[in-house]
Amino acid sequence: MRVLGVETSCDETAVALLDGGRVVESLVYSQLREHEPYGGVVPELAARRHLETLPSLYRELKIRTGLDPASLDAIAVTNGPGLLGCLLVGLNFAKALSFAHGVPLVGVNHLEGHLCSVELAQGAPEPPWIALLVSGGHTSLYVVEKPGVYRQIGATRDDAAGEAFDKGAKILGLGYPGGPAVDRAARAGNEKAYAFPGAFIRDSPYDLSFSGLKTAVLYKVRDLTGGGKRTLTESETADLAASLQRAVVLALTRRIERAVEDFGIPAVVVVGGVAANSRLRREAGRLESRGIRCFLPPPAYCTDNAAMIALAAHARLGRGEPAQGLTLGAHARLPLADRMAADSPIPRRRKPRVGR
Ligand code: KG4
Ligand code: ZN
Repeated sequence: MRVLGVETSCDETAVALLDGGRVVESLVYSQLREHEPYGGVVPELAARRHLETLPSLYRELKIRTGLDPASLDAIAVTNGPGLLGCLLVGLNFAKALSFAHGVPLVGVNHLEGHLCSVELAQGAPEPPWIALLVSGGHTSLYVVEKPGVYRQIGATRDDAAGEAFDKGAKILGLGYPGGPAVDRAARAGNEKAYAFPGAFIRDSPYDLSFSGLKTAVLYKVRDLTGGGKRTLTESETADLAASLQRAVVLALTRRIERAVEDFGIPAVVVVGGVAANSRLRREAGRLESRGIRCFLPPPAYCTDNAAMIALAAHARLGRGEPAQGLTLGAHARLPLADRMAADSPIPRRRKPRVGR
């Protein structure tokens, strides 16, 4: 099955071609530099840039792969969640291709794309598994009992993990996007220099709250600089970045460990832009040594790309789910899974043998 993927939900314009679930080509144009002066994504600017970039990126994909669009089995496009103006650019482009070449159109939830991304470079684990999705807009924990069925067990109550990095980086003057900047600055820092809060919420073992962390970083910077009377030294910045990174990463891994223990599922998939974080990847290695199998995509497939969108469609069509028609709509909000009702428990399995 040959599937073309189109992704324009935020600030990355991306196209990809998959054949039999394997990546033939994946092209990503990142708009980071354009949004950098504004310290965040400007939706109108992003949509316009998608409009300018998508046709040439698709042309480049055709040249590189010799693609004949009429030979495609499906065109997969992100139809939510995301910035509406941005989503519409990709959706209309995909619809035009679908109509012109008589190829079925499949709308893909961006979050499902991320959750599939781990399979682009390696096979999926045997179900069930725990999935942690950590991106710039979402932070959610799922139990995946079988491919395509996601049961959300926890989520952030406020900022996403990526936002915690982005906002923290802004406070530290590290620029945008914050995640990679904090990751880099933290390398020279002492992560135990400052104790930042762990994003825990009483009686909600799988939920997180990162707003207190941002405030704690802000207050610490005020303390150190005497309310802005001087700038942070390089070593203070590195220590703050490392301590912030540790707080976010440990908050995430503690939720993973708790879910692994509670549900007796010692296999974990971590996806989304924050899964590119080097400290989080090191922590995954530690979990592995304790008998928890961890699956993370290579960094290039952690951040937004179209290969994951095509793969999600490939998997759904493979399970016999139908394609959609040209009436497919774009949705700024598009839930992947309903939050589990308290009276619908996930079958708990026997406790895994996890070493400490
Ligand atoms: O998945 P993604 O590309 O876009 C969304 O769907 O949101 O994730 C982007 C987020 C940003 O917040 C960025 O700061 C964060 O992922 N990120 C990182 C790293 N690389 C990207 N966070 C921490 N460490 C990184 N190395
Ligand atoms: Zn994303």
